[in-house]
Amino acid sequence: MADSQTNSAWATLLDVGRPAGGGRRLHDRLAHALRTAIRDGRVTEGAAVPPSRVLAEELGCSRWVVTEAYGQLTAEGYLSARVGSATRVSWAPDPPPRGSRGRPSRTASARPPVRYDLAPGLPDLRAFPRRRWAEAVRSVTGSAVHYDLGLPDPAGHAAPRETVAQYLRRSRGADASSESVSVCSGVTDGLVRTCRALRAEGIGDLAVEDPGWGRLRDAATSAGLRVHPVPVDRDGLCVDDLARTPARAVVVGPAHQFPTGAVLSPARRAGLVHWAREVSGFVVEDDYDSEFRYDRHPVAVMQGMDPARVFLLGSVSKTLSPALGLGWLVAPPAMAPALRAANPVAAAPPVLDQLALATFIDRGWYDAHLRAARRRFRTRRDLLVATLGARLPHGRVAGTEAGLHLLLYLPDGTDTRAAVRSAAAAGLRLADLDDYRTAPSARRALVLGYGNMGDTDILPAVDLLRRVLRTPPRPHEGAHPAAP
Ligand SMILES: Cc1ncc(COP(=O)(O)O)c(C=O)c1O
Repeated sequence: MADSQTNSAWATLLDVGRPAGGGRRLHDRLAHALRTAIRDGRVTEGAAVPPSRVLAEELGCSRWVVTEAYGQLTAEGYLSARVGSATRVSWAPDPPPRGSRGRPSRTASARPPVRYDLAPGLPDLRAFPRRRWAEAVRSVTGSAVHYDLGLPDPAGHAAPRETVAQYLRRSRGADASSESVSVCSGVTDGLVRTCRALRAEGIGDLAVEDPGWGRLRDAATSAGLRVHPVPVDRDGLCVDDLARTPARAVVVGPAHQFPTGAVLSPARRAGLVHWAREVSGFVVEDDYDSEFRYDRHPVAVMQGMDPARVFLLGSVSKTLSPALGLGWLVAPPAMAPALRAANPVAAAPPVLDQLALATFIDRGWYDAHLRAARRRFRTRRDLLVATLGARLPHGRVAGTEAGLHLLLYLPDGTDTRAAVRSAAAAGLRLADLDDYRTAPSARRALVLGYGNMGDTDILPAVDLLRRVLRTPPRPHEGAHPAAP
């Protein structure tokens, strides 16, 4: 774009009529539209903007509106005006680094759409309880006292901490009080905070499950810990193998290991606590989806077995939505000062959101939501297991007792990586178990999440999977990255 831009094209380009502009007043909206066009590179450095009188006519506004907008952008350095010459654009966006594609490329947007989402990670987003959540937000916005709106406590607002503590005592068998609970933005955030505190206490090595969720490994590393993968088998973490690492702390998902779905056996639960006592260390319990247990009542958290040695992390990412960014961390009482000291600038989630969660729980809406979700997920899991059994008899399903995903073991030699790629090209999103391992294994398996899947989509999705597993992959088929 340059001087050749016609004036009517300027009016179209600036499109100031849209209310989403930068402010309510017309000159603000015009300044916003022009600033955005310059930043996006739609109006390039050196281009002359139309004379104010001409653009005012074109836009049907007063000349003052245009001179105000030009004046604003001149003051901000986007335009420069010289007496006797046209006002010109004097700023250019940083060019994208060489090799990068800058703005979303056509290739990226041309990726095949996701028709069926069998990747693990999400709850049923269609079933988010919008009406009740909105009511909770509305209610706390009206009732919060004015000092609730001041500087937030990094450990969270006192009232939601008390509510979460009560919830964890009642429903997860935790040993929790408002003093030991922090409200944070999720398990990942809770782990970063915990790792910082461990490091401050002289613990620099953390054992992690292998396979496991890579984000937790990354969180620990980002907090300065060295991570040591420890294998997982059908009874969960191989606790005896901890002794082969220098770690004095371990992060583990006892209720439903991710991604194998293994439930930590009672003997290993006891063994893990014993290990923590022996090494004067800690267990960090990732209780991310334990509310969904189908064959029995959810097992209580390990944290209740030894609150002095176990940190407990949880969130609403699997029960409501990861977009809320709300979770909790229960710390051993003796670690509370280290936790605070090691996280001096940790940001708690917005206070009104914390209060909304407390209201949502206090009014019984969280429990009601969980009851309904549990029923829905159990039916969906049964449907998926039955469909897989009927359509893919060579596969073996595992890890179905709890959570929102299961494992489908496939015959040795199956190219699961290629299957994930071909499936993505056909609009079916799924994940390869190897994506969560630190080294590939001969045991081939897919991780199938059913949380965010419509019931009626299961049959066509499994049929598509069957076709993909039968068809040899074509080269260069793009894959959607798998969550979580
Ligand atoms: C193993 C595991 N832990 C925890 C979480 C939740 O993390 P966050 O609360 O940070 O969203 C997930 C989410 O996908 C997960 O897979």
